[in-house]
Amino acid sequence: MSRVAILGATGYLGGYAVRRFMSDGHDVRAIVRSPGTASFPEGVEVVRGDVTDPATLPPALERVEGVLMCLNGGGDPARARSVEEQGGANVAAAAGNAGVQRIVLISGMFAQPAYAAYPWEQAKVRGEQHLNDSPVPSTVFRVGFVNETLSRFLRGNRPVLIGRQPHLVRPIAVDDIMSAASRAFGMPETANRVYDVGGDEPMTMREAVAAYASAVTGRRISPAAVRSVPIWLMRGVNRLFAKGEMTRALGILSTMNRHGDVTDTAAWFQDFGKPPTPFAQWVAQQSRIEESS
Ligand SMILES: NC(=O)c1ccc[n+]([C@@H]2O[C@H](COP(=O)([O-])OP(=O)(O)OC[C@H]3O[C@@H](n4cnc5c(N)ncnc54)[C@H](OP(=O)(O)O)[C@@H]3O)[C@@H](O)[C@H]2O)c1
Repeated sequence: MSRVAILGATGYLGGYAVRRFMSDGHDVRAIVRSPGTASFPEGVEVVRGDVTDPATLPPALERVEGVLMCLNGGGDPARARSVEEQGGANVAAAAGNAGVQRIVLISGMFAQPAYAAYPWEQAKVRGEQHLNDSPVPSTVFRVGFVNETLSRFLRGNRPVLIGRQPHLVRPIAVDDIMSAASRAFGMPETANRVYDVGGDEPMTMREAVAAYASAVTGRRISPAAVRSVPIWLMRGVNRLFAKGEMTRALGILSTMNRHGDVTDTAAWFQDFGKPPTPFAQWVAQQSRIEESS
């Protein structure tokens, strides 16, 4: 058990990390840009820090043994670079000076030279390189398709895919990822390793979306009934009506449409075990969550 600082604790994946790390017995410090507006479970220490402002990092990392990075600089190339590339360098430098023993980086499966077609993925590739060059041991999780993303494919009660998404994915529950991240801090053999992180149940995204939609709507929805909207059309909607807010998500979906799930999970299964939450069990939990809310 150790004190772990979480960068990106207010974010989507970071929120799961906070809860999982707390229940695993870590002392959790959330490093956030706006401490006044962030809300966390009782017991979380909240300190200010901005990875694009290196002066904020030494005090934020004082007395910390581990750092989890769950950062996302969005779809704007300059901001993605400053947060995920230069931010990685800033955190690595400050962590080295603070005596941090391990950094765990949550990255994405396309953040590797063979697939990094977009600026935010290229920023992640270089950010990872900064961690490799640092004396602080690091563990990188290149995360594939996450179960929790499925909620984003419901429009009202109707499941809608973006792109045809013909390839197989192997979805994984976020809590299974964060449980492994939590353990990584105590596993010396995972130092300076990069893991492709995914589940072990192949399915099309259409099948995954249909199963999720059936569970939360209470209606049986077949994969064939899931509509698909072309990516080019969504890009137009993004430009005209969404002020570019979907740029990053559409880029990722476009790469998925072309390549599918590119994770090679052999090393991940070997060192961390197969993810404990079967997809069907996770889906059943979602229907219970919907019923109780
Ligand atoms: N979501 C997925 O399904 C998924 C799948 C695979 C991989 N990933 C990877 O997981 C990582 C996290 O993704 P996410 O979806 O959880 O992102 P997110 O919800 O957008 O959260 C991003 C976090 O980064 C923080 N942040 C942004 N700029 C910062 C800065 N300058 N200094 C400090 N913190 C800053 C944000 O804090 P503020 O509250 O201050 O804005 C927020 O907490 C990303 O690297 C992503 O590529 C995500």
